[in-house]
Amino acid sequence: MKVLITGGAGFIFSRVAEFCVDAGYEVVILDKLTYAGDLARINHLLDKIRFYQVDVSNQKEVFEIFEREKPEIVIHSAAETHVDRSILDGKPFLESNVIGTYVMLEAARHYNVEKFVNISTDEVYGELGSEGHFHETSPLRPNSPYAVSKTSADMLGRSYLRTYQLPVITVRPSNNYGMFQYPEKLIPVVFLKAYNQEKIPVYGKGENVREWLFVDDTARAMLKIIENGEIGEIYNVGSSEERRNIDVVRKILEIMGKTEELIEFVKDRPGHDFRYSLSYEKIKQELGWQPEVSFEEGLQRTIQWYYSNIDWLLEKIEQLRKYWKVAYKQ
Ligand SMILES: NC(=O)c1ccc[n+]([C@@H]2O[C@H](COP(=O)([O-])OP(=O)(O)OC[C@H]3O[C@@H](n4cnc5c(N)ncnc54)[C@H](O)[C@@H]3O)[C@@H](O)[C@H]2O)c1
Repeated sequence: MKVLITGGAGFIFSRVAEFCVDAGYEVVILDKLTYAGDLARINHLLDKIRFYQVDVSNQKEVFEIFEREKPEIVIHSAAETHVDRSILDGKPFLESNVIGTYVMLEAARHYNVEKFVNISTDEVYGELGSEGHFHETSPLRPNSPYAVSKTSADMLGRSYLRTYQLPVITVRPSNNYGMFQYPEKLIPVVFLKAYNQEKIPVYGKGENVREWLFVDDTARAMLKIIENGEIGEIYNVGSSEERRNIDVVRKILEIMGKTEELIEFVKDRPGHDFRYSLSYEKIKQELGWQPEVSFEEGLQRTIQWYYSNIDWLLEKIEQLRKYWKVAYKQ
């Protein structure tokens, strides 16, 4: 079967593309290659897949690709993904995440795809206190411009299911980490700062809790979903591996043999959600998926990968420094 993956040059879905290729799917990737996209993640796949550099909000080009490729399955993950950037400027988030999802849904409707897997996020649920978990039926209360744009995209998918009977499946994963994650997200930021012996900024007191999911576990969940996921259903993809941010930072420093003196607490991010935690009972019971990689093992593997691919990370940090200069007038 042919799977079209949007955002397949990004951190998570380049890995999903690789798992799909290995499982025998014909894979087409559509990606704008924003600052967050990188062909280096899929270089080793390029002779086995077809790649199109396209903006998902460009209806004409997206329709042309559907006309040519006629995919049976769509995994729509392309999005602006960094919360801090959405706080500085929400517009690209509305364009890529909301309009882009609208265009993809329209193309899928027009070309009668058999499955449209809409990638959402745990952030659509908003924040939790120290107890409880979000279920697929929990109310949606997104708090950042990023989370609102993803919730809009998630709800657009619902509307196409209900209104046009488009075969939509919605997936809400928790915080991913692993190889090739862009160094503006917590784990690679901490690694790089520690590597360079620089101060590590930690929001507030580092008490915020996230649930950490190793990227290969997400890729395995995606295979289960495209193979056996029920049309119209929503699946949380979690791990139960909850950690306070400060504990994640300490663990990275421990693995790297660095001291905690590098930690520097900084003013909290506005609207910073306290805790996310997903119940993944549904995907476990219905599709037989559960995470296989513990946080300790996944973190070890991730840190080793960063050491082995330090040139990639240093190149990205140079790119980021240019962005910070403009965005934060540094
Ligand atoms: N990273 C996480 O922890 C996490 C957790 C839950 C959900 N998600 C969701 O999973 C998906 C992938 O996340 P990620 O962290 O791998 O993202 P990422 O930022 O690493 O990659 C996003 C990809 O989308 C592409 N893209 C962005 N705008 C585009 C556009 N307009 N047209 C075409 N391509 C575009 C980028 O070039 C990039 O390759 C996103 O939908 C995100 O919201 C991520």
